[in-house]
Amino acid sequence: MASSLSIEGVQQPGFLSNNLGNQALINQNFNEFHIKEFNESYLNQIKEVLLEVQKAGFFAEKDTSVALDVLKEKLLGLWNYDIKVIEAEGIVLGFICYTKATLSDSYYELYWMAVRPSAQGKGLGRRLIEDMEKDIKSRGGEAILLDTSSLESHAAARHLYEKMGYKIISKIENFYSKGEHKLVYKKELN
Ligand SMILES: CC(C)(COP(=O)(O)OP(=O)(O)OC[C@H]1O[C@@H](n2cnc3c(N)ncnc32)[C@H](O)[C@@H]1OP(=O)(O)O)[C@@H](O)C(=O)NCCC(=O)NCCS
Repeated sequence: MASSLSIEGVQQPGFLSNNLGNQALINQNFNEFHIKEFNESYLNQIKEVLLEVQKAGFFAEKDTSVALDVLKEKLLGLWNYDIKVIEAEGIVLGFICYTKATLSDSYYELYWMAVRPSAQGKGLGRRLIEDMEKDIKSRGGEAILLDTSSLESHAAARHLYEKMGYKIISKIENFYSKGEHKLVYKKELN
């Protein structure tokens, strides 16, 4: 177990129920998953992913609202986020959003990622991160930063990041709200 999970104030994992998402997806055996560039045709399905994740208690309403703003900014060409979806047979199961850090030569930032609750725990999150890292490396990126919450609702995300080599470099106490700290993670690509 990564040592960073024992940081004071970080809620320990205790697996959240996965049964609040689209039950139909749980039983569907997809043969192949594909990671594709975001385009407008995926917008409604990404909204569904966000709402399912919110309904399952992983995101607060403000998280969903900011994530939707990011999608709108991308579609309007206001900000060049990299957004990819992971889909199977035309059903979007999750997405990831990252970008090159403003004013940095070599740092990138992971902003958002989410997988439908009914499709979680099947390695899709890992595949999205691996794809992002490969893309960033191919563009000369040297490190990735991300931040997430210390709450129990984000235990799966912290577990995944830590398993993939991301290390906590900073903890900002009570950043999101009283008792909810911001954890900044970094991974050097080599
Ligand atoms: C984080 C997230 C994208 C991971 O997606 P995923 O497809 O389930 O990821 P994976 O299946 O590749 O890996 C998940 C890992 O977390 C583990 N996990 C699941 N729930 C957990 C929990 N409550 N506590 C700790 N670990 C947990 C899984 O067992 C798995 O680890 P393992 O491979 O060692 O068994 C998904 O959980 C999610 O959408 N969470 C809600 C949104 C969120 O928190 N986004 C990130 C912050 S922006």
